[in-house]
Amino acid sequence: MLTFLLNGETVEAEVGPTEALLDFLRERRALTGTKEGCNEGDCGACSVIVTDEHGVSKAMNACILFMPQLAGRAVRTVEGVSGPHGELHPVQRAMVDHHGSQCGFCTPGFITTMAAAHKNGATNHEDQLAGNLCRCTGYAPIIRAAQEAEAQPVPDWMDDRAVGSAPPYPMPESSDALAAWYKDNPDGTLIGGATDVGLWVTKQLRELNNIAFTGRCADLQRIETTEDGLRIGAACTISQLLEAVAPLYPSFAEMLRRYGSTQVRNAATIGGNIANGSPIGDGPPALIALGATLHLRCGDTRRDMPLEDFFIEYGKQDRQAGEFVEFVTIPKQRDTVKCYKLSKRFDQDISAVCGCFNIVVAGGSVAKARIAFGGMAGTPKRATHVENALIGKAWSEDNMEAALDGFDKDYTPMSDMRASAEYRMQTAKNMLRRAYVESLGIPTSVLEVHP
Ligand SMILES: Cc1cc2nc3c(=O)[nH]c(=O)nc-3n(C[C@H](O)[C@H](O)[C@H](O)COP(=O)(O)OP(=O)(O)OC[C@H]3O[C@@H](n4cnc5c(N)ncnc54)[C@H](O)[C@@H]3O)c2cc1C
Ligand code: FES
Ligand code: FES
Repeated sequence: MLTFLLNGETVEAEVGPTEALLDFLRERRALTGTKEGCNEGDCGACSVIVTDEHGVSKAMNACILFMPQLAGRAVRTVEGVSGPHGELHPVQRAMVDHHGSQCGFCTPGFITTMAAAHKNGATNHEDQLAGNLCRCTGYAPIIRAAQEAEAQPVPDWMDDRAVGSAPPYPMPESSDALAAWYKDNPDGTLIGGATDVGLWVTKQLRELNNIAFTGRCADLQRIETTEDGLRIGAACTISQLLEAVAPLYPSFAEMLRRYGSTQVRNAATIGGNIANGSPIGDGPPALIALGATLHLRCGDTRRDMPLEDFFIEYGKQDRQAGEFVEFVTIPKQRDTVKCYKLSKRFDQDISAVCGCFNIVVAGGSVAKARIAFGGMAGTPKRATHVENALIGKAWSEDNMEAALDGFDKDYTPMSDMRASAEYRMQTAKNMLRRAYVESLGIPTSVLEVHP
């Protein structure tokens, strides 16, 4: 039995292991304000507000949020954003005043996402709303509405609290408990934020029964600054990671700002982003360039490896049955990393090519170079020929241009719907040129060129 709070009222329900919140709301509760657009986390029409046991409220996509993930939490749908006597929430009032809605299909998702941002005092509206698509109104009136609502207080009916709930499915509360479960269930499936696994269910119609969620492992949800660097628990969300790396590695944070959307970053975990072995995940190239170490655990046995060694070939990682990603650590270092993400859309899009450069120049020469790419091979992969062509040489335009041939030895990219092989190779080389130009202090980002 699952217990959670729905629009301020306690709900108890028997739920399936991978039953989506969106289906529960629409089919079992007749809360049809929450819309189904894409059913894969891309459009934001299904956005709801989820408040966790620490009182933190986040916009999340109900279509790829499994019911067990809500144990003890509070959910607020668009029906619960207005007051008990029909009073409009400040973001609703402002959307009316600024004509922020036309056909209205996207509007509930915008309202809930805006109300979550309003509750958190977030005023970076373009980032907050990047995961909400509207095909008729245009975004300017919506952003104006969000800006106008900023000054209004958060209505007291938005005050949600978590409730106690026994987990309806395995939800280990520590890494030890997770290790014990996985050792006993090596064929089981771990679920972090379900931003991949959710699609296995909604798009591939897969049935998963033997599952455990990592989202309750307190020690895996922490990012700690140690003497040696950063220690990131596998169950940390991309939103947490973005906040932690922003002061240390701003270029990495800027890339994470374009990772999915606010809703996706609020769910997706770094453990899932690494473990899925995707050749186009954004986390691994940056972490490899930063020299990260991966910490795996099976029962009481732990082993460490440089993150790049984890990715053997497409679809194959160095991970045994019952073994899971516990932590990833980034060694302490001066910030020299540059991360470039190339995708068809600026926001909410998977990379065609993602290049990360950690080039340390001392006395005019390249003392260290760690370069890693996503989208250029069957795995996230280092550009060792390019690195070796640079190391020990003067950091000059001629030497940088001479090193570009290394890309042809390091990578054999493929053509797919995101990009052709030729385009990938050309843009990867251009990214090294960009890193060089930036190192001269010349702005290269469109955001800097056109502020
Ligand atoms: C709309 C949308 C946009 C996206 N945009 C991006 C993007 O811009 N960049 C990007 O890189 N990705 C993107 N993704 C992909 C996805 O968000 C990431 O791969 C994500 O990090 C997966 O993490 P998760 O916690 O949701 O994984 P889950 O879906 O929970 O799990 C993914 C896989 O990892 C396994 N797993 C999870 N945790 C562990 C663990 N601790 N140890 C071992 N195995 C584990 C699961 O069993 C599963 O096989 C997007 C996804 C969606 C739906
Ligand atoms: S329906 Fe599109 S994000 Fe959920
Ligand atoms: S108002 Fe029609 S999709 Fe946004």
